[in-house]
Amino acid sequence: MGPGQVRVKMKAWSTNYRDIVVPMGLYFSGPVSKDTVPLSDGAGEVIEVGEGVDQWRIGDRVAGTFFQSWRDGPFNAGVFGSDLGGPTDGVLAEEVVLDQQGLVRLPDSLSFEEGATLPCAAVTAWNSLFEIGNVRAGQTVLVLGTGGVSLFALQFAKAAGAKVIATSSSDDKLRRLEAMGADQTINYRDNPQWGQAVLELTNQQGADHVVEVGGAGTLENSMIAVAPGGSIGLIGVLSGVDGQVNPLPLVAKAVRLQGVYVGSRSMFEAMNQFIAQHDLKPVIDTRFGFEQAPDAYAHQASGGHMGKVVISAEL
Ligand SMILES: NC(=O)c1ccc[n+]([C@@H]2O[C@H](COP(=O)([O-])OP(=O)(O)OC[C@H]3O[C@@H](n4cnc5c(N)ncnc54)[C@H](OP(=O)(O)O)[C@@H]3O)[C@@H](O)[C@H]2O)c1
Repeated sequence: MGPGQVRVKMKAWSTNYRDIVVPMGLYFSGPVSKDTVPLSDGAGEVIEVGEGVDQWRIGDRVAGTFFQSWRDGPFNAGVFGSDLGGPTDGVLAEEVVLDQQGLVRLPDSLSFEEGATLPCAAVTAWNSLFEIGNVRAGQTVLVLGTGGVSLFALQFAKAAGAKVIATSSSDDKLRRLEAMGADQTINYRDNPQWGQAVLELTNQQGADHVVEVGGAGTLENSMIAVAPGGSIGLIGVLSGVDGQVNPLPLVAKAVRLQGVYVGSRSMFEAMNQFIAQHDLKPVIDTRFGFEQAPDAYAHQASGGHMGKVVISAEL
């Protein structure tokens, strides 16, 4: 272990859609080597600190940051390649060694399993809503589907006092979204014109911010659903990357379409304060033991989950 580094005994991990596509070489950063340690998301306890470490002590409860080199400020070229479990070795290991700047403190209110859900999905939802979307109380937020990013966005938006419209392909999941506080829900499978449905639910005003996780297959509806002067945080590609999109509604409604790529360490810290202040609990769908990590991957890939899939050292 070198100067400025910290050894963490990992207690829990979580999977993201990204972790399914990274080994296929389909992630932005391209193919990874066969030996790359997978997963960006995990939490644990500091068990050793290197020379010069002044931010952490043994026993601190921490999570790694998705981008090890994005501390604060805007996204920049120096961030590329520092994402854990992509080109850089990730955290699906019993112990990991990270730079002291590549960690954040877990909120006391969260368990290790809950903390392990935060680095990718939660920070992305936070960045989309509050750094890019500048969401305020009374506004309307549209979230798509019931994956990790979308459920964090729902929880954050509700805690900020916004109204939330949520979609799902499953009526059962729609009921669960309502129980979580979604104000209005739409089954996007039964309503292929769900963008229009959002307009009808908002008195033709539209949603002030769209947390766009679908990509090419959903963007057209999102552009219909968004309010004049609103914003779309373009995050994911669940519906694929191929397709023709008519960009005119963006112009006609003066909408801001902004790519979102997780977020910085300082965004992660601001989000953790918000989580603690509002006593928010990440939604964990299923837990798997360390030896069952392949089953966690399979469950994430199935799309049957709602929220986060966790791997726990305790099981
Ligand atoms: N840019 C970034 O920094 C960043 C960060 C995190 C994630 N992402 C991307 O964001 C997306 C979501 O990631 P995640 O980890 O939250 O995914 P996830 O947990 O695997 O989400 C799965 C859920 O997405 C919903 N879904 C699938 N196809 C859909 C469609 N066509 N329209 C609406 N919803 C659909 C389904 O919900 P229902 O079962 O309810 O229908 C499914 O259960 C992925 O594409 C991922 O790569 C990007």
